[in-house]
Amino acid sequence: MKLVLIGAGYVGLTTGTCFASLGCHVSCVDLSETRISDLQNGHVPIFEPGLADLIRQMAAAGRLNFSTDLRDAVSSADFVFIAVGTPSRPDGDIDLSQVDAAARDIAPYLAENAIVVIKSTVVAGTARAVCEIIKKTRKGKSVRVASNPEFLREGSAIADFLEADRVVVGADDHSTAVALRSLYRPLIDKGIPFISTSTTDAELIKYAANAFLALKIGFINDVANICENAGGDVSAVARGIGTDRRIGENFLQPGPGFGGSCFPKDTRAFAATGRRYKAPQGLIEQLISANDERKAMLAERILGVLEPRRCSRVAILGLAFKASTDDVRESAALSLIETLLKEGVEVGAHDPQARRKAQDLFGADVTWHEDPYSAVRGADAVAIMTEWEEYRDLDLTRLSDLMAGKHLFDFRNLLVAKDVTGHGLFYHSIGRPLLWPRTLNGTSGMAEARPALSGIAASVV
Ligand code: UDX
Ligand code: UDX
Repeated sequence: MKLVLIGAGYVGLTTGTCFASLGCHVSCVDLSETRISDLQNGHVPIFEPGLADLIRQMAAAGRLNFSTDLRDAVSSADFVFIAVGTPSRPDGDIDLSQVDAAARDIAPYLAENAIVVIKSTVVAGTARAVCEIIKKTRKGKSVRVASNPEFLREGSAIADFLEADRVVVGADDHSTAVALRSLYRPLIDKGIPFISTSTTDAELIKYAANAFLALKIGFINDVANICENAGGDVSAVARGIGTDRRIGENFLQPGPGFGGSCFPKDTRAFAATGRRYKAPQGLIEQLISANDERKAMLAERILGVLEPRRCSRVAILGLAFKASTDDVRESAALSLIETLLKEGVEVGAHDPQARRKAQDLFGADVTWHEDPYSAVRGADAVAIMTEWEEYRDLDLTRLSDLMAGKHLFDFRNLLVAKDVTGHGLFYHSIGRPLLWPRTLNGTSGMAEARPALSGIAASVV
């Protein structure tokens, strides 16, 4: 089967390459000539484990190509996937302009029985609206539009496609559903459930899935706040509840607040959809505020130990919104850097993959480092923001010797508390009380409740 992916971003590129690995012939088309020429020259513009190799293999096998010539690619395609961006508008609702533009672009060239498949995350009713846009150009001809939301996590996107928990396809006519079922036959034959619904249900499934997953994260982050002040350990609580099969262990890792190109924008769009259909999503509205407040709260924790704030130095380890990606979209590290810079704090930063993307945003306002140890040199405080394995293995003797200050903020709970306090550092983690440096007699003071942090700054010699 011949497929076209309109939009060669994180979603389109991974989806197209995976379909090629299933035996399809795929053209990835993008507006960006730079992106397409990079791909044609073997340079993959995003970091996704395993993707560059799979692209090379599929291109060499003649089943994957890259083009800016939408007309040529679309005119011979059986399936035309729309995988363009669906960012948030200022009011939080979805911006469908790229989807509508892509629909208008492809309409004149669609083959007789081609099926348009919306892969982008879109609100309920979009597939039907796209169908109307295309019908305007293809007077009288049949137009078939399906919804096929993706459930790809950056960093594990290939496995999330080839070993999916399920495939969801929304179609409003039987022949379209049958055609999509045959396209996904290789996955169905592996035992992956194929869920066939209306287009509206498929569109709602995507948002409800992301909203629920984000809720789980927001919940465990709230539980972490209680643990910090009650002297609990959120990891123990997460384990104790996650072993209940009704809850499940996944997505109960507390952190600095969820980021990425999906949860923040999809929760905002879902809340907007609720308002639009007079079914307000109060839980999700609250979740969005709580997630934003969390990012601000953690920045205040760091500022609280800097005395004076202006000209103090903070090292940020981790810029990507999560490990195993170079994507910094709505990363908690970005909002932390913005807050610190506003307060006149000098910021140094490191990330094994995402530094260049963050540098494009902050330029010379931040000092960028090739390795974590040069980033922490002379820092009054260090904040671990992304769960890269290399931060779990930090040499704490070297780190504490290089730092000027004594405060280590581990917002991903990567480190072993006693190792940190044993190196004379204050250990600020998530969901556990603040731990004071281990004294000479080997004891480590534990703050009963989180003390006014300015008090600590004053007391630290
Ligand atoms: C994004 C969102 O993250 C995801 O939730 C949504 O489902 C799809 O859009 P992503 O792949 O991350 O997915 O988007 P992005 O990396 O921005 O890639 C979109 C690509 O589409 C860009 O390369 C852009 O140049 C291209 N594009 C956009 C077109 O080719 N044509 C258009 O008309 C608009
Ligand atoms: C998410 C959904 O998981 C995926 O199904 C959908 O298709 C796209 O959006 P992604 O945004 O790539 O995928 O990453 P994910 O692993 O879900 O993490 C999202 C954010 O939540 C990250 O900032 C991550 O650090 C955070 N997170 C995730 C937690 O804080 N705790 C967790 O337990 C899991």
